[in-house]
Amino acid sequence: MIDLRSDTKTRPTEAMRRAMAEAEVGDDVDREDPTVNKLEAVAADLLGKEAGLLVTSGTQGNIVSLLALTEPGEKLILEQDAHIFHYERGGVARLAGLMVHTLPGHYGAMNPAEVEAAIWAEEIHRAPTGAVALENTHNRAGGTCLSVGYTNDICEVAHRQGVPVHIDGARIFDAAVALGVEAKELVAAADSVTFCLSKSLGAPVGSVICGREAFIARAREYRKMLGGGMRQAGIIAAAGLVALEQELPRLHEDHQKARRIAEVLAELPGVRLDLATVQTNMVLFELQRADMTAPQLCERLAEWDIQARARNEVQIRFVLHRDISFKDTEQICVALKDILGAGG
Ligand SMILES: Cc1ncc(COP(=O)(O)O)c(C=O)c1O
Repeated sequence: MIDLRSDTKTRPTEAMRRAMAEAEVGDDVDREDPTVNKLEAVAADLLGKEAGLLVTSGTQGNIVSLLALTEPGEKLILEQDAHIFHYERGGVARLAGLMVHTLPGHYGAMNPAEVEAAIWAEEIHRAPTGAVALENTHNRAGGTCLSVGYTNDICEVAHRQGVPVHIDGARIFDAAVALGVEAKELVAAADSVTFCLSKSLGAPVGSVICGREAFIARAREYRKMLGGGMRQAGIIAAAGLVALEQELPRLHEDHQKARRIAEVLAELPGVRLDLATVQTNMVLFELQRADMTAPQLCERLAEWDIQARARNEVQIRFVLHRDISFKDTEQICVALKDILGAGG
């Protein structure tokens, strides 16, 4: 099966499995795992931050970061389609005691002036703002990128009022590749960033938080509190190191595959697709046809051994990744033309 549902569907490569089998390990809760220590150092270096911390998932990375940056009862400013808002079980409210204030976005980007206005001045009735969170690339917007200039503008607005900025950078390296900048430039002004090893980078498990030493020390305590202190976690870190070394240099290929499919789709009857959103490894589109719903298109694709998932009756997101080859990409295009070419 060709699996377009998510880049979380990838299987570890042979090199990852070998590195996992051969990893040097120790007890990471006592910071004795050399492979975890190496991954955290490599990640921090790639993102230009003082220190890194391996966590179990992107969700854990976000909640641990926000616990470390804020105090209960404060406000978290988020774009209204943010992953943290939609898909993380409301953990910021339940676990960090944060009140969420969402703002509309344009391709996943909040307006800096609206962020500034949402950071309420200290006043007896108001909850203080604990943090602003950005998402890069932006999942629900279709994998769109926030630029260095935009990120710096948001950080400037927030920092001027003493508010830290967290970046949910589950796919930050995709943004860097698409924008032609180094990932460290994209997060330089932010206080914390989480990126995922288990998405476009293709590793089986894990995410890394990066930031200043003092922030990471606090984050390490919250990770322990949440049960994320793993022991011989070098097994996981070893695959992460291979991902950073071998998969990062090929992310642009996934973007080419997404572009190819998007350009074919955009020409087909009843497909509504904004090509401006196709910036990285995702293709987000709507099917506006009398003869077929989005779930029905997924059923038809399954007959071609292609797995896809509809978000609702009209919307579908395809995600390209390492386990979908350029040949598979052409197969997807042939299938889409066959299924959608006639009618409308
Ligand atoms: C933007 C974004 N942030 C966070 C996450 C959560 O990552 P995990 O599934 O590893 O918890 C995801 C998962 O898809 C994501 O797309």
